[in-house]
Amino acid sequence: MSARHGGPSIAPVARALVTGWSHADLARVADVATAVAGLVFSVSRQPSAETAMRRVMRAYRLLEPVDLYNAVTVAGEVQDALLAELTVGESYFFRDEGQLSLLGGEILPAWRAESSDTPRRIWSAGCASGEEPYTLAILLRELGWQSPIALLGTDIALPRLDAARRGRYTKWALRGMDETRLDRWFRRQGPHFLLDDEILRAAEFRQLNLASDAYPSIASATSDQDLILCRNVLIYFDLDTVVLIAERLLRALRPTGWLVLGASDPPLIDLVECEVVMTASGTAYRPYARSRGTSHPRRWLSATAAPPARTPEVMSAASIMAEWADLPAAVPLVPTRASVSDGQVAADVVAHESAAEAYARGDYATAERLAQDAVLRDPEDVAAWIVRVRSAANSGKLTEAGESCAVAIDRHRLVPELHYLHGMLQIESGRSADGARDARRALYLDRTLIMGHMLLGAALTNLDDRAGAQRAFQNATDLLAGYADTGLITASDGVPVARLRQLAQQRLRALTAEDIR
Ligand SMILES: C[S@@+](CC[C@H](N)C(=O)[O-])C[C@H]1O[C@@H](n2cnc3c(N)ncnc32)[C@H](O)[C@@H]1O
Repeated sequence: MSARHGGPSIAPVARALVTGWSHADLARVADVATAVAGLVFSVSRQPSAETAMRRVMRAYRLLEPVDLYNAVTVAGEVQDALLAELTVGESYFFRDEGQLSLLGGEILPAWRAESSDTPRRIWSAGCASGEEPYTLAILLRELGWQSPIALLGTDIALPRLDAARRGRYTKWALRGMDETRLDRWFRRQGPHFLLDDEILRAAEFRQLNLASDAYPSIASATSDQDLILCRNVLIYFDLDTVVLIAERLLRALRPTGWLVLGASDPPLIDLVECEVVMTASGTAYRPYARSRGTSHPRRWLSATAAPPARTPEVMSAASIMAEWADLPAAVPLVPTRASVSDGQVAADVVAHESAAEAYARGDYATAERLAQDAVLRDPEDVAAWIVRVRSAANSGKLTEAGESCAVAIDRHRLVPELHYLHGMLQIESGRSADGARDARRALYLDRTLIMGHMLLGAALTNLDDRAGAQRAFQNATDLLAGYADTGLITASDGVPVARLRQLAQQRLRALTAEDIR
C-alpha cells in the first residue's frame, strides 16, 4: 500500500467507539482508503461507506471485516474494487457546457496563434466513464480543430475506465446533450447509445490515483499538458489532499497550460501558488510563470471579463416558488443534524445553522457562502447542500444552483429533496420532460413527498398529460389532508399546508375545466 499519511492516529477500537463505524476493522479499512486515495469519511458518510465495504466483502466472499482489511492493505484487485465502490462516478456528457466554452473562447484561439510542432495535450483527471474526455473530443471536432491532440482520461476506478473504453452509454449519461448532437455522435442500440468510432479512438484511458505521486511524469503520460480538466473530483478530498493534488496538476502543465476545476470544487486562490484567471466562461488556473510576463502569483489575469456569460444550465427556481407561495418567505425546512461529540463536526453544525438562518432572513448571498463552507468541510451534509442550491437559485445564480444540485445528487442519490430541486430547476429552464423524470425519481424514493407530486403535476401539465397531472395533484391533495393548515412539509421551503392545498385544488379545477371544454 502506498501510504501517503502515517498510520491511523487513534487506536481503531477507540475510533469505532467515538464514530459511526459499526466495527473497528471497518474503521481500519477506511484508514486504508484515506491513506491510499485521500478519501475522507465524515461521521455522516460512514454508513454509506460501510454499505459499500460490505458489498466488496460479498463480492469477494470475505466473511469478516478483518478479512476485508487484510485484503485491502495490499495493492490489487480487492483494493481497486474497494476504491471504486467508495468513490462517486457520476458524470455526463457536456456537463457544465458554459464552462467548456473556455475551449472555443480562449484556448483554441491561443493555440491557433502559437504554432507548435508537438500535438496539444489534454488530460481529464478523474474522468469517470469517459463522459468528460469524449465531450472534449466532440467539442474539438465541432470547433474545427484539425491538428493532432493527445487526449488522456485517468481515474482511480477500473470499472469506470473499462466502461469508458467501451463507449456505450445510457440516456442518463447523455442528459446534457441536445438531440442533434446525440444523433450526430451516437448510434442507438436498444436502450444504449454507442459512441462514434472516431471519437472513441480519440482518447486514451489509464488508471491513475490522484492522491499518489505517480504524476506528473512522462511514464504516466501526464506531463506537459496544455489543458487539464479536473472537475468535480477535488470536492471529495480534505483540504491537505486538495493542495497536494492541485500543486501536482499545476506542475503537470506546460507554462502556457490551463487547469479547470468544477464549479463546486474548492477555489484554489488561497491554497496554492498559481495564476487565477477570470474568463467569460468562469475561473481557470495557470502555473505562475515569470516567463509569461506575469508579475505576481494569484493575480486576476483578465478580471476585465464581464461576469461569466455562461449559458445557464438551469433557470431560476423563483417562478415556481412564487407560484407555490405568494407569501413572504417563512422559516425554511432545513433538516438539522444530530449533535455529535466530534469538535470538527460540531463546528460544521454551527456553520450550517448560520447558513439556514441567513437563508431564513432572505440573505441568500451569505447563506450560499456559509453553506458552501459547510459542504466543503463535510460533503455529506445534505442540509447544507440544500441551502446552497436554494440560495444560489434564489439569488439568480442559475448555473451554480444546477451544478450544485447535480454534485449533491452525485453524493446523495437517495435524497428525494435533491431530485425534487433538480426537477424544479429543469422545469424552470423549459425542460419539463426532464423535470417530470426528476419528480418521479424523488417519488420513487419517497411516495409521500408531497412537493414531488406537486412538481410532477406541474411538469405533466406543461407536457399536456392532463390525466397524469390530475393524478399527481390529487395525490398531493390526499396527502395534504393528513396535515394541519399551518403545518410545514418537507421541501416546501416554508410554504404552509393551507396554501399548498389551495394551489393543488386550483390546479385540479383548471385541469378538469379544460377536460370538460
Ligand atoms: C464525480 S466524478 C467526476 C467525473 C467528471 N470529471 C465530471 O466532472 O463529470 C469523480 C471521479 O473522480 C474519481 N476519483 C475519486 N478519487 C480519485 C483518486 N484518488 N484518483 C483518481 N480519481 C479519483 C472517481 O472514481 C470518479 O470517477
